[in-house]
Amino acid sequence: MTPSTELQKPLIKTELPGPISREIIAEDAKYVTPSYPRPDYKLVAESAQGVWITDPDGNVFLDCNAGVAVCSTGHCHPEIVKAISDQAAKLIHLCGTDFYYSHMPALGKKLDEIVPIDGPTKSHFANSGAEAIETALKLAMYHTRRQKFISFFGSFHGRTLGALSLTSSKKAQRLGFMRQALDVVHIPYPNKFRHFADEMPTSEEKITKDVINWIENRLFKTTTPPEEVAGIVLEVVQGEGGYIPAPTAFVKELRRICDENGIMLIIDEVQSGMGRTGKMFALDHHDGVKADIVCMAKGIGSGMPIGVCTAKADIMDWHKGAHASTFGGNPVAIASALKTIELLQGGLVDNSHNVGAYLEKGLNKLKDKYDCIGDVRGLGMMLGVEFVTDRETLDPAPELRDKIEMACFQSGLIILGCGTSTIRWSPPLILSKENVDVALQIFDEAIAASV
Ligand SMILES: Cc1ncc(COP(=O)(O)O)c(C=O)c1O
Repeated sequence: MTPSTELQKPLIKTELPGPISREIIAEDAKYVTPSYPRPDYKLVAESAQGVWITDPDGNVFLDCNAGVAVCSTGHCHPEIVKAISDQAAKLIHLCGTDFYYSHMPALGKKLDEIVPIDGPTKSHFANSGAEAIETALKLAMYHTRRQKFISFFGSFHGRTLGALSLTSSKKAQRLGFMRQALDVVHIPYPNKFRHFADEMPTSEEKITKDVINWIENRLFKTTTPPEEVAGIVLEVVQGEGGYIPAPTAFVKELRRICDENGIMLIIDEVQSGMGRTGKMFALDHHDGVKADIVCMAKGIGSGMPIGVCTAKADIMDWHKGAHASTFGGNPVAIASALKTIELLQGGLVDNSHNVGAYLEKGLNKLKDKYDCIGDVRGLGMMLGVEFVTDRETLDPAPELRDKIEMACFQSGLIILGCGTSTIRWSPPLILSKENVDVALQIFDEAIAASV
């Protein structure tokens, strides 16, 4: 299952970033947009294999981020490389919006079998997560003939104008863009580690009741009549907002509200989907609750750019020309996606569940050891570690989090922050228990050196 490699530990042999990396970073500063939200540490990749990334100076890093939850099957998995190169030798592009090839129906059929939607589905193919979200928004508006959306504080759905109207995980994402394209109202996310009223821990029952009450008794009775709401957009595990899982009771209640009011339940599985949570989709953890529309990207292509919006067939009932994309669903990206799903079903979803549980156990041991860890949470290989100033006030500790992230990098472990003071673990789903032991030792030492 794991691409073979003899290397078991990171190997850092220059100062970081090394001399060649520094040249690339300097050129990047000259010619590339400064808008990318890069972390304080600077990783330059030259090649990568499995869970290992090599920089141009010959340093080797253990990757527990997977290119931000994208390289689900590991870097350059031989079967993915073969699927991509075989396809590239045959047909790279034809524009599926105007012509036909077998790949789009093949992936649509596969998704029809596995997405958490009741009944027959249809899929629209695009190139990114944001585009999958744009598709879902347009489709929900078209189908319901309504215009309002409900989204959650802390959510991230992309940076294109429609998706940005939903996004609210950081001020920097909106700053400078002022008036939003869509009519979206934001509500608190059901975060049981930080109740929105006092930022303190609460029970799943209470946070569920309070957020549902907010929707039904505050929003629906004032600014946002339900008969004007096209869709509620939910990350079942909030990603960029801090790797926060929603309680099952909450997800069920949201389904009820959507059913009672003709609202589309749009599930954003861009980060949480494709095996990341130890099941194929994060929604699969919630007692059979089904979506109307599901958005996917990131891990579905093992690194090839592809975004998919899958909906109930009778919801995807728009007219010819209503929505399309030149590159969306190109044969090479789909070949990679089909092979990715095969590998996920062939063992990687199980590995995500099993090794994810092992990683979570190790992280909880560190929580017992260090008072600065306030919370360890998540599902499968989508785990968040939230850093706090102390166990009583539970105030977020973003500087400490950044320091730990940097210390991990210096020792050859790649992890990335999310939310205010959380470190996310989103490794390739091929990660082994042996890799976890190595990663946890570095993480432990980085925390000890940073507190
Ligand atoms: C949950 C979620 N939705 C949408 C997006 C946007 O995806 P992309 O960056 O491919 O446009 C992201 C990206 O991080 C995401 O995490």
